[in-house]
Amino acid sequence: MVPSGDDLARAMADRLHDDDQCVVELGPGTGAITGRLIERLGPEARFTAVELNERFAKTLSERYPAIEVLTGDARQLGELLPEAFKPVDAVVSSLGFLAMPESLCREILEAVFLVMNPQGRIIQFSYTPRSPIPQRVLEGLGAECKRVSTAWKNLPPAFVFEIRRKPR
Ligand SMILES: C[S@@+](CC[C@H](N)C(=O)[O-])C[C@H]1O[C@@H](n2cnc3c(N)ncnc32)[C@H](O)[C@@H]1O
Repeated sequence: MVPSGDDLARAMADRLHDDDQCVVELGPGTGAITGRLIERLGPEARFTAVELNERFAKTLSERYPAIEVLTGDARQLGELLPEAFKPVDAVVSSLGFLAMPESLCREILEAVFLVMNPQGRIIQFSYTPRSPIPQRVLEGLGAECKRVSTAWKNLPPAFVFEIRRKPR
């Protein structure tokens, strides 16, 4: 795994809003993006990171002792996340949806949408300019995925997307 570069970390953090009160990072690894997210958040905001790999989670906790790192699977987000973190305003994800089976992608997104504000969004990067979420999964969730920025200086250049529920 090659950690994301700082240009991409900034592009992801730039998508957070001043009034985001509760933000969750999925797949932080050893924290290539985490530092920029913490910097961007207001002093009152709550932040936690969910990492599947125990070794990465331990490294992340040592690197950022002030943040709560939850070791576990994003599919279990509802159970992992303390009630004080719900509802979530924004989820920042580095999960490799393009390489996942469609069923896994669907399960993760379902878990995220269950804990997220109806107006919340998932901020996601991908190395291809097309949506990393299969159209069928988006349709099943009543969601849409829009490309919002590009981190050209990242190696390779990376595209940032926002995934949110479609307005009814
Ligand atoms: C592509 S790496 C991104 C690491 C870092 N955020 C970066 O941008 O360099 C994806 C990370 O997601 C974690 N991951 C994969 N599947 C996961 C899951 N189901 N739940 C939580 N974390 C997961 C991996 O262990 C890995 O650390």
